[in-house]
Amino acid sequence: MPTSDHVILRELLAHEPGWLSGTALAAKLGVSRVAVWQHMEKLRAAGYEFEAQRSRGYRIAARPKTLHTVSIETQLKVRPRNFSFVVHDEIDSTNDEAARELAAGRAAPFAILARRQTKGRGRFGRTWHSESTGNLYASFAFRPRVAPERMQTFTLWMGLNVCELLANFAQVTPGIKWPNDILFDGRKAGGMLTEARVDSDEIRDLIFGLGLNVNSPETGLPPDLARRAISLADVTGAPLDLNRLAAALIGRVLLAYQNFTEGEHVKSFADLWHRYDLLRGKPITLLEGGRRHHGIVSGLDDEGALLVRDTRGKVHRFRAGEVTLEKIK
Ligand code: BTN
Repeated sequence: MPTSDHVILRELLAHEPGWLSGTALAAKLGVSRVAVWQHMEKLRAAGYEFEAQRSRGYRIAARPKTLHTVSIETQLKVRPRNFSFVVHDEIDSTNDEAARELAAGRAAPFAILARRQTKGRGRFGRTWHSESTGNLYASFAFRPRVAPERMQTFTLWMGLNVCELLANFAQVTPGIKWPNDILFDGRKAGGMLTEARVDSDEIRDLIFGLGLNVNSPETGLPPDLARRAISLADVTGAPLDLNRLAAALIGRVLLAYQNFTEGEHVKSFADLWHRYDLLRGKPITLLEGGRRHHGIVSGLDDEGALLVRDTRGKVHRFRAGEVTLEKIK
């Protein structure tokens, strides 16, 4: 149900970069100009700044640097029925919160977003650095009720969709390092953590978690991470509108999930993989269960496993593992 804040924001956004008079806003809402001003104060408190001119009215001068529910809601292009999302100021891990909400019976699909995580998790139990520096920490929860074999390429498909979204949104060229890293120039800007609960041979709960460095300054990171990490703002040279990106991400993830469950993804998977895969033909080391494997990546199989050709020409298949790109000698 849109509130007056939603209506004001929607109108101001729709008129950008133009102005909108206080009288027009008051008429739209059926309230006084003073009431409009009071609502704008609430938006100001959330981080919006407005330029005001007596003869022209208002226009947006600055946007919130952190996640803001009304801003995301206003910028959602389509809002599928039954979808809901929550923005937490701080949470242990959005994946953990999504799991708790699923266990408590919350209707899926839904998304949990947070400005900051105190126990952000990555693969292999690693910590995901999650300070409140204008990045995205988001988890999407679904109840697919399908056999686990049907979801084998799910994270890869979601990663391709995130890459495509970023390419369109910010005119950048991301790449995927199998299976779950989003990179720019060899540095990591995003990671995905998909977790599932399987009951009697079907996936009951599925959580797709995404951490994306959007506006974090390199200076805010511990030194070892700063060398390996990059944010979208580092790539574009300017901060991005975090809430517009969050809204676009929600739309894209929900659509990608639908395409996947309907089997539509097979039509474009190979093309997208070809566009965003960073590993094909590259020498790598793959760490799996404490063992190191060296070879040249020859591609993916139908189940999303990585195919690696060793020095003797034998192709090995890996369902999981951590890949390091080697320098070409
Ligand atoms: C990785 O690269 O190892 C995966 C990182 C996934 C991080 C995201 S941030 C949102 C969600 N909540 C978590 O605790 N982890 C994922």
